[in-house]
Amino acid sequence: MRHELAVRERLRNALSETTRRLGEAGLASPSVDARALIAHAAGTEKPLVMLDELPPGFDARLERLTARREQREPLQLILGRAPFRRLMLAVRPGVFIPRPETELALDLMREHSSGGLAQVVDLCAGSGALGAAVLDEVPASRVLSVEIDPIAADLSAENLELAGPGRGRVLQADLMAEIPELAAAAPVDAVLSNPPYIPPDAVPRDPEVIEHDPHRALFGGGEDGFEVPRAVIAWAARLLRPGGVLIMEHADVQGAAARDAAAEHGGFDLLTTAPDLTGRDRFLVARRAPEAPTPGSERLSR
Ligand SMILES: C[S@@+](CC[C@H](N)C(=O)[O-])C[C@H]1O[C@@H](n2cnc3c(N)ncnc32)[C@H](O)[C@@H]1O
Repeated sequence: MRHELAVRERLRNALSETTRRLGEAGLASPSVDARALIAHAAGTEKPLVMLDELPPGFDARLERLTARREQREPLQLILGRAPFRRLMLAVRPGVFIPRPETELALDLMREHSSGGLAQVVDLCAGSGALGAAVLDEVPASRVLSVEIDPIAADLSAENLELAGPGRGRVLQADLMAEIPELAAAAPVDAVLSNPPYIPPDAVPRDPEVIEHDPHRALFGGGEDGFEVPRAVIAWAARLLRPGGVLIMEHADVQGAAARDAAAEHGGFDLLTTAPDLTGRDRFLVARRAPEAPTPGSERLSR
């Protein structure tokens, strides 16, 4: 009993001291991060109140983890994983960390699609978050993911394989160029994408983002940040079957720009903007027109 009380006391002290240090480092939710680091240092997934033992080396491990987070290294990179929908995804330095707001793309895909989701394409896949969630949530679906960065493409393949063994495939390729293997995947039922979309003059301030997310994952190219998103729209128009849907994330100020880009490209009969859970415009929803002619690939290099 005395031993358990001593463990509780050490945990209480660790929690208050780690929370204080992370608060001073400028974190928005220091006690949430402190709890995650303490659990990681203790090698457990259990809530801290259930711990009656701490492993040897706990204090030194916690010190190392706290020092990394004080330097604003993202919590997910320190833990080596990130939650996404029902999955716990592997994450890796140099690859964009999946964000909770992106999770809504799956609900929008289900809401706006009709006629099945057997074949889904994830463009700009990063860690493979969207494609992995499709494999996990849509039985018997197949996913083709496209990602330019070799490290991200490898990670994507790992996360797809864990979520749906044998049902996912990754192409390491540049969407701004012609990709015959991707073109050959048509027709598909849905295209999901969280592409880079930040314009060059809107540099993110959080050190976790600007120092750890790769810049190719953030900045979409061109003055409006929309070069890669325009390529995503062009590929979606080319790949989707009639009635198939594109769900593409964008910044909250880019709703009209995204709809305009899709309207200008042509091939869609429904163009709308969906808000995130806080009511901000965050997703383009575009449905492939029933009888639209397939646009030419020359559109892709705009
Ligand atoms: C914002 S991250 C999103 C990653 C993932 N979809 C997610 O939601 O977590 C954008 C990804 O697009 C990739 N990317 C950027 N330009 C690309 C291009 N031209 N072709 C293919 N992928 C590209 C980046 O390497 C990065 O992994």
